[in-house]
Amino acid sequence: AGAGALGTLGALGALGGLWALLALLPPPAPAETFSAMLSVRGALGAERRLLRRLRSYLRDESSRLRRLRRFYEKVQALHQDPKASVDNPLLAFSLIKRLHSDWPSIVYSDEATSNTQALHAGLREVEQELPGAEDLDGAARALMRLQDVYALSVKGLASGVFQRAGHPPLYSPGRRVSLSADDCFHVGKVAYDTGDYYHSIAWLEEAASLFRLSYGSWNLEDRSSLEDALDHLAFSYFMAGNISHALSLSREFLRYDPSNQRVSRNVAKYKKLLETGTGASASPLQRPNSTRLQSRDAYEELCQRPRGQVGLQLLHLGCSYETNGSPYLLLQPAKKELVQIQPYVALYHDFITDAEAETIKGLAGPWLQRSVVASGEKQQKAEYRISKSAWLKDTADPVVRALDTRIAAVTGLDLRPPYAEYLQVVNYGLGGHYEPHFDHATSRKSPLYRMKSGNRIATIMIYLSSVEAGGSTAFIYANFSVPVVKNAALFWWNLRRNGNGDGDTLHAGCPVLAGDKWVANKWIHEHGQEFRRPCGADPQD
Ligand SMILES: *[C@@H]1O[C@H](CO)[C@@H](O)[C@H](O)[C@H]1NC(C)=O
Ligand SMILES: *[C@@H]1O[C@H](CO)[C@@H](O)[C@H](O)[C@H]1NC(C)=O
Ligand SMILES: *[C@@H]1O[C@H](CO)[C@@H](O)[C@H](O)[C@H]1NC(C)=O
Repeated sequence: AGAGALGTLGALGALGGLWALLALLPPPAPAETFSAMLSVRGALGAERRLLRRLRSYLRDESSRLRRLRRFYEKVQALHQDPKASVDNPLLAFSLIKRLHSDWPSIVYSDEATSNTQALHAGLREVEQELPGAEDLDGAARALMRLQDVYALSVKGLASGVFQRAGHPPLYSPGRRVSLSADDCFHVGKVAYDTGDYYHSIAWLEEAASLFRLSYGSWNLEDRSSLEDALDHLAFSYFMAGNISHALSLSREFLRYDPSNQRVSRNVAKYKKLLETGTGASASPLQRPNSTRLQSRDAYEELCQRPRGQVGLQLLHLGCSYETNGSPYLLLQPAKKELVQIQPYVALYHDFITDAEAETIKGLAGPWLQRSVVASGEKQQKAEYRISKSAWLKDTADPVVRALDTRIAAVTGLDLRPPYAEYLQVVNYGLGGHYEPHFDHATSRKSPLYRMKSGNRIATIMIYLSSVEAGGSTAFIYANFSVPVVKNAALFWWNLRRNGNGDGDTLHAGCPVLAGDKWVANKWIHEHGQEFRRPCGADPQD
């Protein structure tokens, strides 16, 4: 039953693309920076322009201040020179002139204003490209997702270390960067605002301890303070049932801001609760339930599994050169690694070239739109699928057509319209993932059937990039995961020979921990394959 529900949701992001191939529409406006790494990279350009503006502002302001200082030093020198007496008519004249006109010119100079205005204009210029509140929240949720799925400690993350307690680091960046107190506060606040005190406590604790360390110094860019962190943290602890800690944090708050009435009232309230013994019911905090609760543990265990633990641990699995009876493959056979027999999953190494991968990414780039999922008969965005995707018709480029030919040769299946969908190119975002789902429809109402060519019999997923960490494809029930192998193609049957969905194919795209993950999906439908993959002799097959 659970499988059915998952399948409907995950069945098809495809639909729109099948008929409305974007060719005539203008490229979409940039939005949802966090949901594709291509958009994150795009944001770098906006910041570069802002940097240039700030540099000329600093230069202009420095010369303005230098001029001010020169005037100050000139006048100051006169005042300190006992020989410079106003008995000298020239000095008397210049004093009178200075007071009448030089000082007002200096004081009312609008140079500062015009420098500021130029800076403001610079920000307005890139306004369209600036991430919105939704982007920032999405980015904060991405960090919490990485924290959860890879069991990373918040303290480690904040100091730039991607590590699970007692394990080697999952990712060691070339340059270690850490988060500021204000950064941590923001992540905690996103959790706090949704009533998720499990995450808000961890992040606000980190914010508070960083703010304590730097108390007294102040960053122009910070929007929050130690007081804010203590205030939100105290309330989070209160909501989690830990009244005594809420009390001690509120008392700490009052040391910095003794006149705060609201917090004083809270202190009184907390004391009373502790005295009467009501509310001392702190149970260990639970992570908020996700939509995929039943398979969450298995999913996360598979995502955390180190690379290189795929296939090959079983003796009957192995690697082979395959020509599959196709003349197309005679001179250059496919390099197949059999990953699993039930469900049947194979990884074809060097399925495409670097140049082809770049071409496909380049073709899809301008058309990327936030990926949707099928929810009943509708399609919508969902937190459990963070990526942008675009559809490429085989007529888009010879590379796309060649890919179709190669897939047909390797799989032996018929890809001619309407037996297969267009190529879906996906770029994952910050912490981008796709939680456990089926590719095939598990409900007759699925939008997938509108193609009138049956269910999705097989999937071929081509890795167009490598990633530095994370992003494996995890088969939940089958209990294995396949890491990202650049230029390789992963193939599996979604349906059994009898046409029923294969429940063992429940799979997920693990969150990308570091890197820019691109894949291309080709979904092949049942119709057209009747003689290419006939039923077995056993109806249960
Ligand atoms: C409340 O939180 C503090 C700090 O995390 C912890 O040391 C203490 O054990 C907690 N108290 C209860 C009752 O859970
Ligand atoms: C989460 O799910 C578990 C198990 O289904 C349940 O016991 C618990 O009450 C749920 N928690 C919330 C906050 O819904
Ligand atoms: C999945 O595989 C791992 C290691 O290969 C094993 O330790 C674990 O018990 C398996 N889980 C299930 C549910 O079979």
